[in-house]
Amino acid sequence: MTISLDSITNNIPLLMGLDRNHIIDVKDIYTVDFNQANCILNGDALEVLTKLPDSIVQTVVTSPPYYGQRDYSTENQVGIEATIDEYLNRLLDVFDQVKRVLKEDGTLWLNIGDKYIDGNLAGLPWRLALSLKERGWILRSDIIWYKPNAMPSSVKNRPTTDHEYIFLFAKSSKYYYDADSIREPHVTFSENSKMKGGKKHLGKSGGTPEQGKNSGNGNLHRGRWDQAFHPKGRNKRTVWEIPLSKFRESHFAVFPEKLIEPCILAGCPEGSLVLDPFFGSGTTGVVSLAKGRKFIGIELNKDYCEMAMKRIFAT
Ligand SMILES: C[S@@+](CC[C@H](N)C(=O)[O-])C[C@H]1O[C@@H](n2cnc3c(N)ncnc32)[C@H](O)[C@@H]1O
Repeated sequence: MTISLDSITNNIPLLMGLDRNHIIDVKDIYTVDFNQANCILNGDALEVLTKLPDSIVQTVVTSPPYYGQRDYSTENQVGIEATIDEYLNRLLDVFDQVKRVLKEDGTLWLNIGDKYIDGNLAGLPWRLALSLKERGWILRSDIIWYKPNAMPSSVKNRPTTDHEYIFLFAKSSKYYYDADSIREPHVTFSENSKMKGGKKHLGKSGGTPEQGKNSGNGNLHRGRWDQAFHPKGRNKRTVWEIPLSKFRESHFAVFPEKLIEPCILAGCPEGSLVLDPFFGSGTTGVVSLAKGRKFIGIELNKDYCEMAMKRIFAT
């Protein structure tokens, strides 16, 4: 059966009625009205993805299970493969399908953790990122998630790890990215230097609002205008300081909502569709709805599907 998503519009109600079943088994995917979205598809990510139509999703935000880290109590779970190569190949196959279901101007925000094997750091995030590039993805940014409240560790012969990577990939060179929606406060220039002269300063040499050494510096008004004086703040930087999430309820490795807010805001306009193929406790769904987007989650463990749906409706 072919499922058409052509008619996804901005007018669709954000949630289907509470009486509807939003957790759909992989064998029942043909019953899904993807126009409504906001559902969890219960099954293996690769199997479910192969059943979805092409080019329906604007952005994907996800964190696959890390290698050899946790047991998510399901057969066929990702992360317990015998070798790193098997693990990486499995993820690569999943992300081939993710690319297919993404719109041409779509993006993928991928959070992935590393692993020490016999005391040797495996370098998994970059191994995966480079392999994804070989499979045709365009790597646009490596973002460091700095965790100020990371678990203390007993290691004494290396620094304690308190960061993870988020990679921003694009399907094609022209992709949707709303930089204005995630700007940061200016920090490198004084209060006095912010947009004093308004947009009339753009492109003009001299007459800079800067005093002292920057006075009359035309460079500030051309290439660096956006950085120095943009009224909405400076362009988002690549180190994001976000504390670990407090949401627990028997699921591990929950995204902090603040971590994925910028991905969803910059990655797609309101009303569009966000996919998380490793949905877990459903943070991507919670934030998507809160920001006026729709979601599809894929999750192998039925208990997590139910926990996620409960959490989404509670929020
Ligand atoms: C790191 S957790 C995701 C957590 C999520 N970002 C959140 O905020 O709760 C990874 C999830 O992938 C699920 N998973 C493992 N293998 C899977 C597979 N083959 N297909 C789909 N989901 C899978 C696990 O059950 C787990 O819930």
